[in-house]
Amino acid sequence: MSQPQSKPRFFSHQTLERNIGLMIIASILVVSFAGLVQIVPLFFQHSTTNAAPGVKPYEALTLIGRDIYIREGCVGCHSQQVRMLQSEVQRYGAYSLSSESVFDHPFLWGSKRTGPDLARVGERYTDEWHRIHLRDPRAAVPESNMPAYPWLQHASVAQADVQDRMRALRRLGVPYDDATIEAAPAALAGKTEEDALIAYLQGLGVAARRQAAAAAAAAATPAAGTPAAGTAAKE
Ligand code: HEC
Repeated sequence: MSQPQSKPRFFSHQTLERNIGLMIIASILVVSFAGLVQIVPLFFQHSTTNAAPGVKPYEALTLIGRDIYIREGCVGCHSQQVRMLQSEVQRYGAYSLSSESVFDHPFLWGSKRTGPDLARVGERYTDEWHRIHLRDPRAAVPESNMPAYPWLQHASVAQADVQDRMRALRRLGVPYDDATIEAAPAALAGKTEEDALIAYLQGLGVAARRQAAAAAAAAATPAAGTPAAGTAAKE
């Protein structure tokens, strides 16, 4: 019984499977398309493109501090992304949302976790603690293996080209107005790189924490006009 000779078709699965080059190209096409279907909608979703309540563009000193954080490679040991894991939420606080980093170009979520996550470190320690810790981490945490950054206290940020940096960020969509850019250098007068870095650290996650506290307070006290518990229970 001979197999009926099938008419050669221009394109069949067999053609794909027997031609590795074609198979690779087709796989790349399929994976790219599937990737775009997942990624492109995020560019237009308000929950990923709009700032979370209370999240504002960085002030001059904080912005310079962020650039020092990048320059010193802090992201190589610290993530800024509380993941949706019970252990992380218990340790650091509410998990991170992309709407918290809409003004971050580039974002510093990181993935290397040699040290603790810093997404919620703002206001957890005093400025003085940060000074001691940055100059000599072992003075604050004896078992620490974090490097010391003693030179930051001696370097001035007065010469930082903060206006250019703000203008560059404005082109990327950060809403700095002319008055803010005009006033920026004055905010840096007399400040050191250490001051700037600490200002940056002290702001991390603070908006999110205030928001969570406000939501918890609102849940605890029923707002005026909401039915009393007894009324609601009858329905
Ligand atoms: C080689 C890895 C490494 C680098 C680089 C590093 N750190 Fe750390 N960092 C750690 C470790 C480990 C700890 C935990 C021990 C401690 O508190 O010192 C830590 C702790 C911290 C803490 C306290 C966090 C908390 O919740 O207790 C802060 C703030 C911090 N680092 C900021 C920085 C900054 C800012 C930089 C860059 C200037 C930096 N780190 C660079 C490893 C690192």
